[in-house]
Amino acid sequence: MMWRIYFDNNATTPLLPEVFEAMRPYLLESFGNASSIHQRGQQARAAVEAAREQVAELLGARASEIVFTGGGTEGDNLALFGLVEPGDHVISSTLEHHAVLNGCKRLEEMGVAVSYVPCGSDGVVRPEAVRAALRPETRLISVMMANNESGALQPVEEIGAIAREADVYFHTDAVQAAGKVPIDVERIGCDLLTVAAHKMHGPQGVGALYVRRSTRLRPLLVGGRHERGRRAGTENLAGIVGFGKAAGMAVEWFSEGGDVLMADLRDRLEQGICCAVRGTRVNAAAAPRVPNTSNLLFEGIEGEGFVIAMDLKGISVSTGAACSSGATEPSHVLTAMGLSGDEARGSIRFSLGKQNTAEEVDEVLTQVPGVVAKLRELSPAWAARQ
Ligand SMILES: Cc1ncc(COP(=O)(O)O)c(C=O)c1O
Repeated sequence: MMWRIYFDNNATTPLLPEVFEAMRPYLLESFGNASSIHQRGQQARAAVEAAREQVAELLGARASEIVFTGGGTEGDNLALFGLVEPGDHVISSTLEHHAVLNGCKRLEEMGVAVSYVPCGSDGVVRPEAVRAALRPETRLISVMMANNESGALQPVEEIGAIAREADVYFHTDAVQAAGKVPIDVERIGCDLLTVAAHKMHGPQGVGALYVRRSTRLRPLLVGGRHERGRRAGTENLAGIVGFGKAAGMAVEWFSEGGDVLMADLRDRLEQGICCAVRGTRVNAAAAPRVPNTSNLLFEGIEGEGFVIAMDLKGISVSTGAACSSGATEPSHVLTAMGLSGDEARGSIRFSLGKQNTAEEVDEVLTQVPGVVAKLRELSPAWAARQ
């Protein structure tokens, strides 16, 4: 089999083997419903509560403040729709993931006013712009912690302070931050924070919303009184156990300096490519970034072609652009940073995971120059510039 290198960890990460082993018994013999009063049910309940402690520890929260969800999108939706009502005002940013952006659009249809704060060319939202957008009827600020395309970290602590001062709720989508940079909900001063297991080597389809104690949230899903009435439905037992294990392993990884080593690997990749391929730029280079993400603009190429050519070489990367209805729209994140449509379409996201090695980085470094050169040979725009 061809040696496959996976550098698309912001899309999803592989399960760590330890996570899989932690989940296995809960898919087989210990399959109980955590609401059942018999022994199997009680075992399941104990496992869910142990995982809740592990996720809480990763976020600096109390276990009672963790609501398990079906992933990042659900957490973001619960934060938005659980708090906001027609007539309210919400502040968000132009950089958000569609889980928040399209949620905000739906809120607008419901009679909520939404202000979208822009970012600078570095991909970072300015706290003063958030402050300037405040209105007397502002109920919620929702600004992400780390951007999924550029990796740029947002000034969430400053925004949290602004929200507190104005007595407004603050939600942050930390789906791309969790397990990559340390998170402390008290330092951030947020009321709500979204995480997803599959971006940190846990399973897909499970996540959590941190909900600060005494925050009254309307549930999205109604039914039984699971998750203290905040999210109805039988808990995803094996998924939650895997999430807890992944969270516990992330805590250990930070204590062993894993984030520093990952940043070294990312820098080796970034510098290697920029040295070997002229006409290359790092998007959001001036911003503080998560240690695993490198978004590179290659002048004169189409990102889609690059992704396909790399895939043929056994290497998975991604464009910053989302593909909608057959047409490749340039990424809303990169255009918000001031890139032209062509620049955004020529940008590629390399995102590392804990399984990646220096050997893999070196293999990618040997392949990228040739792939870019081939694509440029076919590019009239590049030829015209020479
Ligand atoms: C920043 C961000 N928020 C939310 C989501 C949605 O998470 P999920 O796919 O778990 O629903 C993603 C997924 O890519 C993301 O990157």
